[in-house]
Amino acid sequence: MKKITIAIDGYSSCGKSTMAKDLAREVGYIYIDSGAMYRAVTLYCLDNGLFTPDGIDTAQLEAAMPNIRISFQLNPETQRPMTYLNGVNVEDRIRTMEVSTRVSPVAALPFVREALVKLQQEMGKAKGIVMDGRDIGTVVFPDAELKIFVVASAEIRAQRRYDELKAKGQEASYEEILANVKERDYIDQNREVSPLRQAEDAILLDNSNLTIEEQKQWLAAEFEKAVNGKC
Ligand code: DC
Repeated sequence: MKKITIAIDGYSSCGKSTMAKDLAREVGYIYIDSGAMYRAVTLYCLDNGLFTPDGIDTAQLEAAMPNIRISFQLNPETQRPMTYLNGVNVEDRIRTMEVSTRVSPVAALPFVREALVKLQQEMGKAKGIVMDGRDIGTVVFPDAELKIFVVASAEIRAQRRYDELKAKGQEASYEEILANVKERDYIDQNREVSPLRQAEDAILLDNSNLTIEEQKQWLAAEFEKAVNGKC
């Protein structure tokens, strides 16, 4: 069966990764969470004191970019990918509120985007990949055979992230998460480089009122159409 490229873009916490991960596992494709890569760079900044009272130390970060190595490895138990930063598993650390509240300005830096987009394109060269993010269908893989743009209300997305953090035993405030979701939407949509927008040929999915199972079935049907040709 021919292998295709699947780009899943959308707002933060709208369930993109869940659907992308599940589809990749089912069809035997590689799954790449591009947001995790921006989060890993943010964690690097936190660990290396690159957030200063005046903002990000961009000169130091730009100089450090060639030394920031990001990779993914499958967790043998869960079969889910884990993010590694310079050889260290940082999967849990990149999901904390500390990283969530600081990642958008890092992701808006042109030299960060340039480096990560290059890496993402390299990872997708052989096709057979599902990648999720904000600019996958517009910038990273503009020729992807299947593009999905996912939306859901800010309140529903905040509730999902709250439930996720609670389930992991992490401290969380719904109000704080909602404010963070709205702020990230704003920055993601209004930044100068690669702002979040729906590619013209992307299929819109509003999953506000869909269960994970319903969403899975919808995506499986779209995948079939993309691989076998639309009737
Ligand atoms: O999907 P996420 O919440 O883990 O993404 C973290 C941040 O990274 C989010 O603020 C948007 C940014 N991002 C991006 O700018 N481009 C991508 N392809 C993926 C994520």
